[in-house]
Amino acid sequence: MDAKEMIVYWYEKHWEAGFVKWWKGYETLALHDGFHEKRARSFEKALLNMNDFVGRLLQIKDGEAVILDAGCGVGGTSIYLGNKYPKAKFIGITISKKQVELARKFAKERNFNKNTEFYLMDYMKTSFPSNYFDGVFALESISYAPNKKEFVKEMHRILKPGGRLVIICPAIKKELNEFMKKIHLWYNIGRGNPCSFPVLKDLSEYLKEYFSNVVVRDISRNIVWSEVRSTLMAIPYVAIVLFKKLFSKNYQIWKDPHFYLAVAILTPIMAASRTAGYYAITADKQ
Ligand SMILES: C[S@@+](CC[C@H](N)C(=O)[O-])C[C@H]1O[C@@H](n2cnc3c(N)ncnc32)[C@H](O)[C@@H]1O
Repeated sequence: MDAKEMIVYWYEKHWEAGFVKWWKGYETLALHDGFHEKRARSFEKALLNMNDFVGRLLQIKDGEAVILDAGCGVGGTSIYLGNKYPKAKFIGITISKKQVELARKFAKERNFNKNTEFYLMDYMKTSFPSNYFDGVFALESISYAPNKKEFVKEMHRILKPGGRLVIICPAIKKELNEFMKKIHLWYNIGRGNPCSFPVLKDLSEYLKEYFSNVVVRDISRNIVWSEVRSTLMAIPYVAIVLFKKLFSKNYQIWKDPHFYLAVAILTPIMAASRTAGYYAITADKQ
């Protein structure tokens, strides 16, 4: 399996096993962490609040903006914002065919298929013309970009002058020691993320090279409860995976959706080491 096939495999297996079961998949269509704050304390509200947060950062006015959702999952954020900003158009792209089908189906069921569109497309090399979008957001999707600088360059190309890029992602904030490198590798691969987290300093530099007004906000505290939830959820799966590994001769760990759930057990190690944080970044094209 190459990196792209692995990402697709992970998301397609994980939709039912993980997101529907443990992450309010059908209720929120969210494949991201919840953004907890005073007005959004419950898990479900926090998941939806992340969409509101993206809308606020994009500074969508009541106008006819065209917005790209780069790495759209099953369309949750675009469908939510499509409802909130009915005059704007949201175009979501993903490399998973199943996600495109689900996003179109969910948009239709919820009657937001008039101002949302979903396509199978790689965000590293899109087929959109230059200077096309008023805003672009990448919600927990840049980790999958094999080359972060090329990703930034492509987003810059398709944004109109005056347009805004919003990136929300986990990122590495300090040099990793050998142990943490291993933990990151397992965590990322186990989460279908063979390309891995951006390094915050490098990402900021790439953004500053192409954009102006680059603002980095550390929102790690707002997503802590989502991470606690995924860690607790992992405990029974660690036991299941160990059991299968010990007692099944032909067990293929990389093909087991339960393994992907078990890997969340590494979250507290990452959090305690303070090597990674969770950020909301905005940058404007001049
Ligand atoms: C963690 S999910 C986030 C989905 C969505 N933004 C959300 O918050 O619900 C990451 C998404 O990035 C997509 N993705 C990964 N690599 C991609 C690529 N090269 N081009 C487009 N989408 C990609 C995956 O298919 C998946 O939909």
